[in-house]
Amino acid sequence: MLFENIKRLTQEVEAFEIENKEQLEAFKNTFVSRKGSIAALFDEIKTVAPELRKQVGQELNQLKQLAQQKLDARQEELEQSSTPDVLAGLDFTLPPVPNALGARHPLARTREQIIRIFERIGFNVSEGPEMEDDWHNFSALNFPDNHPARDMQDTFFLSKNPDMLLRTHTSTVQVRVMEHQKPPIRTLSPGRVFRNEAISARAHCMFHQFEGLYIDRNVSFKDLKDTLYYFVQELFGQDTKIRFRPSFFPFTEPSAEIDITCHICKGKGCNICKGSGWVEIGGAGMVDPNVLENCGIDSQEFSGFAFGMGIERITMLKYQIKDLRLFTENDVRFLRQFTGM
Ligand code: DAH
Repeated sequence: MLFENIKRLTQEVEAFEIENKEQLEAFKNTFVSRKGSIAALFDEIKTVAPELRKQVGQELNQLKQLAQQKLDARQEELEQSSTPDVLAGLDFTLPPVPNALGARHPLARTREQIIRIFERIGFNVSEGPEMEDDWHNFSALNFPDNHPARDMQDTFFLSKNPDMLLRTHTSTVQVRVMEHQKPPIRTLSPGRVFRNEAISARAHCMFHQFEGLYIDRNVSFKDLKDTLYYFVQELFGQDTKIRFRPSFFPFTEPSAEIDITCHICKGKGCNICKGSGWVEIGGAGMVDPNVLENCGIDSQEFSGFAFGMGIERITMLKYQIKDLRLFTENDVRFLRQFTGM
């Protein structure tokens, strides 16, 4: 009887399927544990005739070993394959989440547009340093020493001797170009400028300008007007009108401030142009002969015009942006509005 039981149990152990932890536990309880069926058979050895006990004992030990080995082997296999299934629960038929498109910063976009417009009429692009000396920011541009116009620029001074400062306008690049190149000169100089101003919706201590300079023989105020007319119509639309108001800059004579018709209300009057129909976009004039001479250009032979405008100002007018601070806050809700433009 006992031999038959051992044989039957051996078949059961071999046939038992262990595919998961629960089945592993059941196998252990059924066969291997101290209360399992193999242990029960060991208890029966004492009922067997003494001359058979040795053989029964051997066969039972073989069965016990078989069961233990199977338990150990399956346990190891299950542990190895028990890393969580990362793909479980994913639905591969769902459409993918689209990649968000990037946007160019509106100031970079405006600067590029301005450069492209002037490139078409033969202007190249020039740049100068943001840390400047007094000569390039003031003296060469005909600001007399101790002249109040120096105060008006709210300069960040860096050091006294040598006199270094953060440039307050891109007119510095005019000087650098004229010092190193011979006329004819047609150049556009975009760049960052700095002024010691409290930051608000309308003012910032750091902003961008571009400077235009044209030096050749017989350059006239008419050339200046035609050039700026062409520029504002390319940038703001063909129906844009331009107006020159007499003004003063130390480096130009005569000087003018440039207004254009408000392209929001087309000159009718709105809150952007404060009801006047016109908005100011920059300054311009004929390069003062003193400036030409300061830069080594013969003012008897050559004349020229210059202009300077704010890139923030133009961008705000173009896209009706009401607060300067938006340009530097890196708020993606603002920047995303320029996606794909
Ligand atoms: N540099 C002046 C400013 O920052 C702008 C300007 C006015 C530039 C007249 C010019 C010019 O070249 O001719 O306010």
